[in-house]
Amino acid sequence: MTVIVLAAGGGTRMKSKTMKVLHPVAGRSMVGHVLAAVQGVQPRRVVTVVGHQREQVAPHVEALLPGVVLAVQEEQRGTGHAVRVAMEALAGEEPSGTVLVAYADTPLLQSESLARFAEEHEAAQRAVSILSGVVERPTGYGRIVRDAVGDVEAIVEEKDATPEQRDIREINSGILAFDAAFLAEALPRLSDDNANGEYYLTDTVHLAREAGLHVGAHVIDDVAQTEGVNDRVQLAAMGREMNRRIVERWMRSGVSVMDPDTTWVDADAVLHPDVTLLPGVQLLGATVVGEDAVVGPDSTLQDCEVGAGARVVRTHAQLAVIGAGANVGPFSYLRPGTVLGADGKIGAFVETKNADIGAGAKVPHLSYVGDAEIGEGTNIGAGTIFANYDGVAKHRTTVGRHARTGSNNTFVAPVAIGDGASTAGGTVVRRDVPPGALAVSSAPQRNLAEWVLSRRAGTAQASAAAAALPVERPGVRDSSADGAQAEAPSEEHGGDGEEQSR
Ligand code: UD1
Ligand code: CA
Repeated sequence: MTVIVLAAGGGTRMKSKTMKVLHPVAGRSMVGHVLAAVQGVQPRRVVTVVGHQREQVAPHVEALLPGVVLAVQEEQRGTGHAVRVAMEALAGEEPSGTVLVAYADTPLLQSESLARFAEEHEAAQRAVSILSGVVERPTGYGRIVRDAVGDVEAIVEEKDATPEQRDIREINSGILAFDAAFLAEALPRLSDDNANGEYYLTDTVHLAREAGLHVGAHVIDDVAQTEGVNDRVQLAAMGREMNRRIVERWMRSGVSVMDPDTTWVDADAVLHPDVTLLPGVQLLGATVVGEDAVVGPDSTLQDCEVGAGARVVRTHAQLAVIGAGANVGPFSYLRPGTVLGADGKIGAFVETKNADIGAGAKVPHLSYVGDAEIGEGTNIGAGTIFANYDGVAKHRTTVGRHARTGSNNTFVAPVAIGDGASTAGGTVVRRDVPPGALAVSSAPQRNLAEWVLSRRAGTAQASAAAAALPVERPGVRDSSADGAQAEAPSEEHGGDGEEQSR
């Protein structure tokens, strides 16, 4: 089998710099969907006819389908002309058997439908088969005209149709199957003597009938599969319909989706059984979600891998790997290169980038972790900044296994904190911390006794302080004179009862 995909038309109604068939639906270009369906029937050759904006279309098609034959149609002189250009591009390896023609703007098309159509065409030994559909509003389509016994007589284009023919609701979807030898012989005989002044591929039906060859139509039940997109209103409707189908398919294979209407799953995403998706989730690109994981509400994951049993709440993540049983969110931002180990945690208001966070390690609150490696079982204190950028270049920070770092730390990269090390609250780590050491960099605290009473006299603050102090007061003095002590990291964590607090 040879498949010809027509993609030369302009698509001016999209009003876009981007060629129509390159617009995405469910994360894949429209032509990408069609080529995927086409590949499903395992054709010997695929020819794509390009014309308008072919500098955009040709590389895209070649990247999706190496080995594709590209045929250039300089001027769009009709579907018959386009197929002729495609056949010429195959000169030297003339197709035999069946030639299928499809359009590049019908993203809902399924391989199974193409396969069934081709099978029927071959079994009936027809010269031409039409994939037809019965629609409510046939406006714009070629009508299938049948004779008294119901055999297909012709396809009549809208502009060439009589008023009676315009009432026919069986239409040409545009997908046609040909006997290759007949097609090669018929194409040069098409004429452009019609209302559009174009070479109609559909006129092959009439030529086959004249030659006494078999012609037939296969009515597709699911006519949406052959629907094209012409403008951005139809593009949105198509996107919604494709999403509805994708989400329904996943639900039937064992995924719970609380609100299908607000759940968006791209065509290339993969979901395992017993995944639960809460409202407002977008799983984009090649995202994979493992068994028993719960995603949502309100999360966008693009090209991410979520491990089995993980929990991802109100999160925006891109090119990130979330380990099995890990917890992410709410309000987390995982940027490319984030790898969170099994049972790890990236908590509220935490941003990560190029960060390898080990198994069971936690970054629970209000932190930025960039260009970092954090060992297993380590806990990073609240409000920690991995200062990876010195204004010129990016540097890495490594934190060892089972370390405990204090709240409000800054790790000035490049720097290394050893296994089992600790850092005190407010530490600015500029030098490496050996394994097991406690790093302290903040200045000792001084309390200026009753400073508020003298400097803020008459304020509510001062009267609250006065009320709390003993009546006999020793007067203002600097308590640091009593001797400074190095701060022990006893209360530095803003903890929530987890690893953090002590
Ligand atoms: C065509 C069919 C019509 C069918 C309808 C279904 C013909 C004569 N008519 O009409 O029976 O009901 O599709 O949508 O075949 N293209 C090229 N080169 C060209 C012309 C078209 O590559 O010179 C491509 C277009 O990019 C498009 C497809 O062929 O993908 C169909 O072309 P279009 O002009 O939309 O055909 P219709 O007039 O809609
Ligand atoms: Ca059309």
